[in-house]
Amino acid sequence: MVEFSRPKGTQDLLPEEQPYWEYVKAQVSGLARQYGFERLDSPIFESTALFARGVGEATDVVEKEMYSFRDKGDNPITLRPEFTAGVVRAYIENGMRVLAKPVKLYSLGPIFRYERPQAGRFRQFHQFNAEIIGIQDPLADLEAMLLAWDLYANLEFQGLSFQLNSTGCPVCRPKYTEALVAHYQDHLDEICEDCKRRIKSNPLRVLDCKQAQCQPVIASAPKIMDCLCDECADHFATLRGYLDALEKPYTINHRLVRGLDYYTKTVFEVWAEGIGAQAAVCGGGRYDGLVELLGGPPTPAVGFASGLERVIMVMKSQGVAVPVLPAPPVFVAYLGKQTRRAAVRLLVDLRAAGLGAQVAMSGSLKSQMRQANRRGARFVIIAGEDELARGEVAVKDLADGKQETVALTALVPSLQEALSAV
Ligand code: HAM
Repeated sequence: MVEFSRPKGTQDLLPEEQPYWEYVKAQVSGLARQYGFERLDSPIFESTALFARGVGEATDVVEKEMYSFRDKGDNPITLRPEFTAGVVRAYIENGMRVLAKPVKLYSLGPIFRYERPQAGRFRQFHQFNAEIIGIQDPLADLEAMLLAWDLYANLEFQGLSFQLNSTGCPVCRPKYTEALVAHYQDHLDEICEDCKRRIKSNPLRVLDCKQAQCQPVIASAPKIMDCLCDECADHFATLRGYLDALEKPYTINHRLVRGLDYYTKTVFEVWAEGIGAQAAVCGGGRYDGLVELLGGPPTPAVGFASGLERVIMVMKSQGVAVPVLPAPPVFVAYLGKQTRRAAVRLLVDLRAAGLGAQVAMSGSLKSQMRQANRRGARFVIIAGEDELARGEVAVKDLADGKQETVALTALVPSLQEALSAV
């Protein structure tokens, strides 16, 4: 029994996991920059009121899932349960409204939600988040969707599909909500307790219910597509036109409503094989009212976020290989205590020349050679007293076991040459 264990729903990302993380982070950042997104890092914690207002008081995230506390100055603080509200706050606070539109921003980092942990669902996880601020045209929606799609396509994910819907706007959504609530009122004795609550607090979320008893009621519920105003219907049709022209496969999913209140018009997810019930590898949509809601000028925007744990789960289940993280190629060993100082001098000189190097910190020469092997070194420098006195060291190539004597003055160039050939 260990005395301390990590909090439920968190993970220790051990060294053997890191090749996946390094690779995925490099992929997402590289692609985002290639598509014209610039990085924005907002704080990991923000004022609680920002998320309450931005994400919505009646959402599960705000109602049940936030890590909120008062800091020592008695300020209500929340560990970010998503990026969008913080990015929009930063956009407003830093006067980014004056920038040429669209403002395309991406972020990468930990997110916190007090959820019930299961496969693919954690309490601390990581998102790659992208936002396109300032453009109403569905081209911006398309651009967000393409970034998500191409990320997964570049990772060679199989079985991808876009799930697409519109959530309407403040003009048409109330009419739809009214029709939906009326339908549910007619089926009150058939639905679960949660849905009874939801039709009062957050009616669209009934469409998300997974309970078996609610499925027939969902199936016969009115569809938002039939209630969209002309502007929303046009917007959706134009986006579909772009997707059709690019032959991107998508499924119109009338039940896709998403869990955050700020969405207007487009909502989408990408589902991938390999993460079981947690099929959404990313989710997002348009949020034309959020900038204004948080105190900025009316500004349309669209974006998405992808959970990196889920991306890595898909990679593993689909067998996507990642490059190994190279170990320092040089290991400095020594014979006898007297040579330690010289070994350390060699270590520092090798590093100063830009070579990855480590030094043995204990053990006989035999044990030092074993350490070099275990640490994945290619060359071992053996500093022996007699050789040092002659201005030389032995260099052993662990790949073929060959050992040669090299003059100290020629050590760096000869290692550089040998390593450049590897
Ligand atoms: P979200 O759907 O709540 O949207 O989260 C986006 C993605 O984060 C999900 O598709 C999933 O991959 C991952 N995710 C969510 N919860 C967890 C969890 N507990 N454990 C592991 N992964 C998780 C948002 O957060 C919006 N802010 C996205 C957005 C940006 N919309 C517009 N702009």
